[in-house]
Amino acid sequence: MNPSHYTCLMIAVCLIAMQPTRSAAAASVSKDTEARLENAMADPKLRAAAVRAGKKAASLCANCHGDTGNSVQDDVPNLAGQNPIYLLNQTEKFADGRRKDEFMSGLVRVLKPEDRFNMTIFYAAQDVAPSPAEDSRLIESGRRHFMQSCVGCHGAEAKGNHEVARLAGQRASYIVNALKQYREGRGMRVDIRMTGISKTLTDQQIKALAAFLSSRR
Ligand code: HEC
Ligand code: HEC
Repeated sequence: MNPSHYTCLMIAVCLIAMQPTRSAAAASVSKDTEARLENAMADPKLRAAAVRAGKKAASLCANCHGDTGNSVQDDVPNLAGQNPIYLLNQTEKFADGRRKDEFMSGLVRVLKPEDRFNMTIFYAAQDVAPSPAEDSRLIESGRRHFMQSCVGCHGAEAKGNHEVARLAGQRASYIVNALKQYREGRGMRVDIRMTGISKTLTDQQIKALAAFLSSRR
């Protein structure tokens, strides 16, 4: 993006971010939308059409999340290969204020529901590119901790499900940030299932978990 486009985008984002948020108690993605997403993911024709439309709409996002949902910035998550229902739920959380990030909250409010839907399918259909850590002892210590404390929800392959994020191949620095946001409990990100567990983690354990998870495909 050239600098003047970037400035325009950021002004638009700020104006939209200043509007009052919808009710904080807004629900997750409806069962109807969830069924429509699953249907589109399972049908090759519908999926291909959504991926095409989603790729177009995602040009707004590529600056930070990369052309194929593999992030090009440290604190920005990979979206490639993420569970589509999890992704759509997070965009709803940014839009209604349950999750806070100044750029994301503004941006998602500009998007039409159909764009959010198609982008989600586009990103879910991309392959994630892991960034393997170098310290094999750190990775092993993260693996052990993951198998003890996280596997019950995130799954043996760390691929998550509709409710629970995929962590395999996610960027290490983003995993560290996310865990600290839950642990600090300042309201940036609140989830009752992550709050308790994140409070048990030391900085060193978070580093090891992130090294293990970012190395996995
Ligand atoms: C200015 C950079 C920037 C742009 C542009 C951007 N994002 Fe983000 N996005 C971020 C950051 C930073 C986070 C992590 C915020 C946090 O730590 O909670 C994020 C998080 C997300 C998440 C949550 C992922 C997860 O694993 O929970 C989704 C979904 C997302 N962005 C979708 C989008 C979409 C769709 C667009 C385009 C409309 C977009 N983003 C544009 C920076 C950006
Ligand atoms: C009781 C179930 C449960 C357990 C146990 C659990 N998680 Fe989670 N985790 C979740 C859910 C649900 C979410 C999505 C929450 C949200 O919407 O913010 C999540 C989200 C995350 C995220 C944010 C991912 C993203 O893309 O933004 C990270 C990082 C994470 N978990 C790491 C861990 C680690 C590491 C452990 C083990 C120490 C763990 N979790 C244990 C349920 C769990």
